[in-house]
Amino acid sequence: MDLMEKITALAKRRGFIFPSSEIYGGYQGFWDYGPLGVELKNNIKREWWKSMVYEREDVVGFDAAVIMNPTIWEKSGHLKAFTDPLIECKLCHQRFRADKKDLLARHESEHGEKVGWTESKKFNLMTEVLLGVTEPKQKAYLRGEITQGVMVNFENVVNSTRVKIPFGIAQIGKAFRNEITPGNFTFRSREFKQMELEYFIPPKEDESKKTFEYWKKQRMDWYVSLGLNPKKLRFRKHEEKERAHYARFAEDIEYEAPFGWGELEGIHHRGDFDLKNHSLKYKDKESGEEYIPWVIETSGGVDRAALFFLLDAYHEEDKRVVLKLHPRLAPFKVAVFPLLANKNELVKKARAVYKVLSTKYYCAWDDRGNIGKRYFAQDEIGTPWCVTVDFKSLEDNAVTVRDRDSAKQERIEVDKLVGCLQNKLKE
Ligand code: GAP
Repeated sequence: MDLMEKITALAKRRGFIFPSSEIYGGYQGFWDYGPLGVELKNNIKREWWKSMVYEREDVVGFDAAVIMNPTIWEKSGHLKAFTDPLIECKLCHQRFRADKKDLLARHESEHGEKVGWTESKKFNLMTEVLLGVTEPKQKAYLRGEITQGVMVNFENVVNSTRVKIPFGIAQIGKAFRNEITPGNFTFRSREFKQMELEYFIPPKEDESKKTFEYWKKQRMDWYVSLGLNPKKLRFRKHEEKERAHYARFAEDIEYEAPFGWGELEGIHHRGDFDLKNHSLKYKDKESGEEYIPWVIETSGGVDRAALFFLLDAYHEEDKRVVLKLHPRLAPFKVAVFPLLANKNELVKKARAVYKVLSTKYYCAWDDRGNIGKRYFAQDEIGTPWCVTVDFKSLEDNAVTVRDRDSAKQERIEVDKLVGCLQNKLKE
């Protein structure tokens, strides 16, 4: 099994990610997140929100509707230009993205003969929906990027808060794309979550370049601070022909996945493209100066981050599989075990410890099998610490805390447990 297969199997076996609609044969490009997957994604989103909104004075949050007035998509250029190049195999009529040379080569080798391809044509990625109660129903769209909800509310945010340029608006939410070739597990899906910052600045070339570089560094540092291996991360500049229709220039943060380098986050210089198209502008409350701000955008995928954090965390050592997720991302922070499940006094004490810890963290409880097996089960889902209540705990009110990565054990007093884990989480 290669790493992608191992992660896909582990994700299903342990409740991180399931194929959507599986009992009816699945649905290509859609995925469901299980009990552990939802925790991992929530933790990624929480860390992002903390660093992008709570720890900054110059950024406010937002949450726009998924379906908006279709005029927005006309003005934003998405109905015309949000396209990928599509070609069709003349032998079997399967359709592919013309720019995905590796997929085309694989398809040719599957046929085992020379394949003829149709001319490449532009395929629009917007997902249509029909709304209303009278016929014909009104055509609307599921948002292809979460950005536009923020852009069209620019003046609302300026007028209802004390923000002053330079400032940012952060948002996390679902986006939908009718991808031609969804694949590589969740990497390319048709429904996915984005976490985006639109940072509004004065329309000045030098300042915009500095801001672009600043956000590139912030975003790269964020992934590294949460444990992604820096050797597997890089920036890649977009060539002119691959740039999105709204971008003056763009660079991706890429991760080296088993299937090659893949985009994790895009940093875009959107200039005044969006605000100008929506006829919106900024008026400085003090100087009265009016202008159309420029926008530097950071746009990351929550699902791609989850996938890359899982791939990066996967280790096989000493016959155990261990997910070395950063403790702040791990679904469970701590697991609590009574040494023996059939000794009431141990179970009672362990339950009391569990109760205290679960007011602070999402905790696992396990009293099945032997301690070794319980450790292995927690290692495989990335739980950083396991706490065991044993007979000595009944006398000294202390527990054994075992560290996932080093497998080292230390004795900690129950009353100091929360503080101690809190310090470890800050590290
Ligand atoms: N507002 C800018 C924007 O949407 P993008 O580069 O098209 O930019 C940003 O998308 C991020 O969204 C990507 O870096 C990726 O992490 C995520 N993303 C894009 N398409 C995706 C897909 N089909 N499946 C999963 N994630 C996707």
